[in-house]
Amino acid sequence: MEYVTLSNGLKLPLLGYGVYQVPPDECERCVLDALEVGYRAFDTAQAYVNEAGVGAAVKKFGIPREEVFLTTKVWITNYGYDACRKSVEASLKKLDTDYIDLMLLHQPFADYYGAWRALEDLYDEGKLRSIGVSNFFPDRLVDLCSFCRIRPMVNQIELHPHHQRLEDMEWMAKYGVQVESWAPFGEGRGGLFEDPVLTGIGAKYGKSAAQVMLRWQLQKGIMLIPKSSRRERMAQNFDIFDFALSDEDMAQIAGMDKKTSSFFSHDDPRIVEMLAGWDPLPE
Ligand SMILES: NC(=O)c1ccc[n+]([C@@H]2O[C@H](COP(=O)([O-])OP(=O)(O)OC[C@H]3O[C@@H](n4cnc5c(N)ncnc54)[C@H](OP(=O)(O)O)[C@@H]3O)[C@@H](O)[C@H]2O)c1
Repeated sequence: MEYVTLSNGLKLPLLGYGVYQVPPDECERCVLDALEVGYRAFDTAQAYVNEAGVGAAVKKFGIPREEVFLTTKVWITNYGYDACRKSVEASLKKLDTDYIDLMLLHQPFADYYGAWRALEDLYDEGKLRSIGVSNFFPDRLVDLCSFCRIRPMVNQIELHPHHQRLEDMEWMAKYGVQVESWAPFGEGRGGLFEDPVLTGIGAKYGKSAAQVMLRWQLQKGIMLIPKSSRRERMAQNFDIFDFALSDEDMAQIAGMDKKTSSFFSHDDPRIVEMLAGWDPLPE
């Protein structure tokens, strides 16, 4: 495993496992499989409604808590100082743990300043070992970095060969914010798993397009959390430490950037309306 050290000195695995769209009743099995494969970092969210499955799997696997790294995210209906604090307590319970390794604000909308102040205090109290944001475009990130007490340590954003976020990464570097990719395969949209550049590079090393995409991000120092419900793919996605892409390979992949989201943009007002009206959390 390769590791990254965040701005506060916390060391985290670069490669983890994400559980978006893993149904609550399947999550424990998936995370147990991932633990057996070797993953030690897990990314969930209040909005995924499967935090309890992650916590149950870690307990069942019987691994010392300090050998596992748990990330979760506060949803916008839990923003504002008091609601955010309360929701973090609920996440701790669901994850069955005394602390969370990385807590993110899921979206840059609603009262994220109130929520951020709650995360700062919970960080000081030791309940959160690091804090960060997700889907913050550079303008929102620079705003938050300019007026907060503790700067975000991570920004989790959509990033894959079709959407490489080079300018965003420059802003993050300027403010000491570690980049973490979501959808490191773009969920396969735009034919990424079959792309001839990626499969061609993979053929040289006996690796799949998926492994090439992950290796490319790993070599750029990006934290990544690929998702698969299938154990054999979990193992394939974990098997990226025994080869290295050449400068030429890296340049070829750099040429695939379409500089546009494969999903939607968080600064599109229609998307803001859609997310503002979405409440995935059960009462
Ligand atoms: N912060 C945010 O707003 C946000 C948004 C989206 C995602 N995320 C996080 O990022 C994680 C990853 O993103 P994601 O799940 O959206 O997309 P992803 O990891 O890019 O892609 C997952 C898809 O790829 C398939 N897949 C996985 N490995 C494969 C392989 N080796 N070969 C072929 N197909 C493969 C999976 O199918 P199978 O499961 O059938 O294998 C699934 O359909 C999420 O789980 C979540 O933790 C965060």
